[in-house]
Amino acid sequence: MATVGQIIFCSMIILIVIFGAAIILLLALSFTGQLSEVMSSNVAPTANLGDDELLSCYLNAQTQPARVTDVSVTWQKTGLTGPVYLYEDGAPSLGDQDPQFKGRTQLFPDALVAGNASLLLRSVGRGDEGDYTCTISSSGGGGKVKMHLKTAAFSATTFKFTSGALTAEAPRWFPKPNVTWSDFNGNVLNGSTSFAENSVGIFRVVSTLQPVNVSETYGCRIENDLVAAVSKATVTGPGVTENTYFTFSAASSLMTSTHLSITTSVLCIYYLT
Ligand SMILES: *[C@@H]1O[C@H](CO)[C@@H](O)[C@H](O)[C@H]1NC(C)=O
Ligand SMILES: *[C@@H]1O[C@H](CO)[C@@H](O)[C@H](O)[C@H]1NC(C)=O
Ligand SMILES: *[C@@H]1O[C@H](CO)[C@@H](O)[C@H](O)[C@H]1NC(C)=O
Ligand SMILES: *[C@@H]1O[C@H](CO)[C@@H](O)[C@H](O)[C@H]1NC(C)=O
Repeated sequence: MATVGQIIFCSMIILIVIFGAAIILLLALSFTGQLSEVMSSNVAPTANLGDDELLSCYLNAQTQPARVTDVSVTWQKTGLTGPVYLYEDGAPSLGDQDPQFKGRTQLFPDALVAGNASLLLRSVGRGDEGDYTCTISSSGGGGKVKMHLKTAAFSATTFKFTSGALTAEAPRWFPKPNVTWSDFNGNVLNGSTSFAENSVGIFRVVSTLQPVNVSETYGCRIENDLVAAVSKATVTGPGVTENTYFTFSAASSLMTSTHLSITTSVLCIYYLT
């Protein structure tokens, strides 16, 4: 049986944990920019190596700038002296732009009038990984938002059915992924996977499942720490119908803090009884 003292002690602990979680939540919100007037729809984007990536940054204010000359935008990358992009007085100002970004960046002047300072980064390379800060100042408000860009290689899976075997192929993956096959009910099946690494460290993935049954649907998941390609393939006899979508993992500090406070409260209640 718990004494009154223990109950009070535990209530205090639970309150402290709840307030702590609230503070962490507030910090996380301000870190992701949700308390600033400048926001990003994705503060942890993962770009596909070689593709273009749009880094999102926009002004979330009541009054938005009406003239583009009212807006100035600075994109910076932590560790570089020159800006990634600078826009002021109604025009790009790229004299001091870091050489890494020469000819690879653009804003959208039409969107800028509405407070949207998203940056298009062309042909993303591994060196583009890192922390970016977007700063907007305008007659309609301003602020900054930070984001962390990661790079990976990922490509859609294609399927073939030949002599009783279902083969999944994906030409570009980095970091090296793993492959998991499953049946329609989600039970894991035993496939055999091989990897071929090219000269720049990108993997070609080939995985075979055998035996398979005609008109059954199989799941195939290719994933690394950043991206998962989730596919369903139905063996139709001569061919395969298939679809693939990608999911991106973004470790959330919100999730961690909520989890922490629930765990602590549960432990405390356990101690009471
Ligand atoms: C900002 O502009 C870009 C480029 O036109 C567009 O893709 C994006 O959806 C816009 N974002 C917002 C929040 O309006
Ligand atoms: C999976 O297949 C490998 C050979 O491809 C075999 O060595 C292994 O025992 C199999 N595992 C199961 C659980 O069937
Ligand atoms: C294939 O069909 C057989 C016979 O119906 C069944 O026992 C087996 O579990 C099926 N295999 C798979 C991988 O669905
Ligand atoms: C596959 O990789 C993911 C991400 O790295 C990991 O979470 C998962 O446990 C791995 N699965 C297997 C079966 O190795």
